[in-house]
Amino acid sequence: MSIPSFGLGTFRLTGQAVIDSVKSALELGYRVVDTAQIYQNEADVGQAIAESGVPRSELFITTKIWVENYAADKLIASLRDSLQKLRTDYVDLLLIHWPAPGNGVELPEYMAALAEAKKLGLTRQIGVSNFNIELTRQAIEVVGKGEIATNQIELSPYLQNAKLTAFLKEQGITVTSYMTLAYGKVLKDPVLADIAAKHKATVAQVALAWALQLGYAVIPSSTKRENLASNLLARDLKLDADDMARIAKLERNGREVSPDGLAPIWD
Ligand SMILES: NC(=O)c1ccc[n+]([C@@H]2O[C@H](COP(=O)([O-])OP(=O)(O)OC[C@H]3O[C@@H](n4cnc5c(N)ncnc54)[C@H](OP(=O)(O)O)[C@@H]3O)[C@@H](O)[C@H]2O)c1
Repeated sequence: MSIPSFGLGTFRLTGQAVIDSVKSALELGYRVVDTAQIYQNEADVGQAIAESGVPRSELFITTKIWVENYAADKLIASLRDSLQKLRTDYVDLLLIHWPAPGNGVELPEYMAALAEAKKLGLTRQIGVSNFNIELTRQAIEVVGKGEIATNQIELSPYLQNAKLTAFLKEQGITVTSYMTLAYGKVLKDPVLADIAAKHKATVAQVALAWALQLGYAVIPSSTKRENLASNLLARDLKLDADDMARIAKLERNGREVSPDGLAPIWD
């Protein structure tokens, strides 16, 4: 199993905005696109991919099942609908979007349906998103050790998730950092700005390079071609031990996303 380390996020983007973002990114060399049923943009993403001319075999497409489709008799049908919108026969990675405790469908039911989707060849890999340690443990119990490719979680220099990332590492589960830029908040940070100046890099590149160097996958989004291009160069930025130690100290439990009814009790 492997999760590519650098991808494109598409949250909040629909219509022409997401079509332009995905097409620019693919032209610039991105090959990983992260979407979700709830983003209401799968059809736009599918259109952008088709128009880009990039062969499907070169792409890594992730989508996420929305909570209303967690029941055993709905999950796979909803995935088939997503595949049709994305104009593909399979996704590379399929995630449960939020644990949503109390939503009426228990974890063993939706995790088993997710595993079934993989068996049917509708997804190459499966994983979870926004799961805490206990729920990740329960998910592993249902689908088996080694089956969960990633836990996609909010993670930035301001929210480093030390306990959860240590557990995921121990389990061999790749961490995917979403909102690595804290939706732009970390871009104003003076410590990151200082490190960026030292390396003649941008602050966004420093935040992304920090996550990459910790072994996490990242999926920053942007509506601007120049930001898409410069973010990709974070792969070439090498931070030193002093930079990494200074960024480690920026932790402030700065969580941006925790929707009632969907989020677990965070570690
Ligand atoms: N699993 C989940 O529950 C979940 C939740 C949230 C997000 N996600 C995924 O993670 C992806 C990333 O999160 P996100 O899009 O919310 O936030 P993000 O990537 O942390 O930040 C995106 C914001 O940063 C700006 N930005 C990007 N590059 C920049 C640069 N080089 N310089 C200045 N500004 C820059 C963008 O503005 P411009 O457009 O102006 O560049 C945009 O406003 C999402 O798109 C989605 O795919 C998953």
